[in-house]
Amino acid sequence: MLLREPAQWLRDGRLVALPTETVYGLGANALDETAVRSIFAAKQRPAFNPLIVHVADPSWLGRVVADVPPLARRLIDAFWPGPLTLVLPRRPEVPDVVTGGLDTVGVRMPAHPVALALLRAADVPVAAPSANPFTRISPTTAQHVLDGLGGRVFAVVDAGPCAVGIESTVVAVEADPRGGERVVLLREGGTTREQLQAVVGEVFVADHADEVGDAARRSPGRVERHYAPSVPLRSIARRADGALQVPNELERPFALLCRGDAGGVTDAAHVDVLPADPAGFARELYAALHRLDRAGVAVALVEQLPDDAAWAAVRDRLRRAGLR
Ligand code: TXA
Ligand code: MG
Repeated sequence: MLLREPAQWLRDGRLVALPTETVYGLGANALDETAVRSIFAAKQRPAFNPLIVHVADPSWLGRVVADVPPLARRLIDAFWPGPLTLVLPRRPEVPDVVTGGLDTVGVRMPAHPVALALLRAADVPVAAPSANPFTRISPTTAQHVLDGLGGRVFAVVDAGPCAVGIESTVVAVEADPRGGERVVLLREGGTTREQLQAVVGEVFVADHADEVGDAARRSPGRVERHYAPSVPLRSIARRADGALQVPNELERPFALLCRGDAGGVTDAAHVDVLPADPAGFARELYAALHRLDRAGVAVALVEQLPDDAAWAAVRDRLRRAGLR
């Protein structure tokens, strides 16, 4: 089988970039401390930032997780395989470098046949952050991985573009001060809050106080400026008649990133028209940001996105990309 070699490289402690349904991950054997350290070195990522561990099957949870509370089990039954990461109490075998020294570990089962086949062949849980240099745009193609980390990764398993296009949703299942357990949303992503609520009822959001004060403990990934192209991004509105409102004061050349159609703008040096629906827009967003990076423009105008919950994850990524 074609994946036998990359599976062996993972077992040998090498870095192998792998496709998932969300973004490409930079994978290493999660139980091999030295291998996991090399992920941080390759990405130049600070070591307090914990990694997501990927499993081939819920039955693998016992290798990394000490306890699966009933509420977590319901989420797993509903959303795995898929873009949902659960933060659960870790087993002592999981090296500190994976968890950033926390007593929890983030785990998910990706909905990608190649990722699952690779995990099964390797027969080890695989720690994998997005396969991009720290603070840069996440990769949704193998070429993106090579552009950002070529020379720092032993191999890239290429399975074409990712279907979801933004990272998994991260939730913690933790003790509810009112008794029982509760689900706390730590990062918006490929599984929407509405989908979670439909299964577990209430979903709490780690509040702003967490984000500024307690963030390093709760979810270190939340505070970073992330997913950032080198071009400044500036938000523009669309009028009721469909025209996009290009500001009078504007550095040139400029690029346009918009939804559905170009809104009558004809003088942009580079135009990316993404699908009008949130799933389609998410799927193509990072590839568009990678193109903006190479467009040679002074500024990129980005169409304001709808306010509703279906767009929350995409709005979050654009905000972290520096959209003003
Ligand atoms: O879709 C994805 O999640 C991709 C693919 C490769 O699976 N991976 C990914 O990993 O986005 P990364 O490392 O870029 O983001 C991991 C996120 C961070 O925000 C981190 O803080 C959070 O998960 N996280 C991981 N373990 C955690 C833990 N024990 N407690 C709180 N947050 C955790
Ligand atoms: Mg990342």
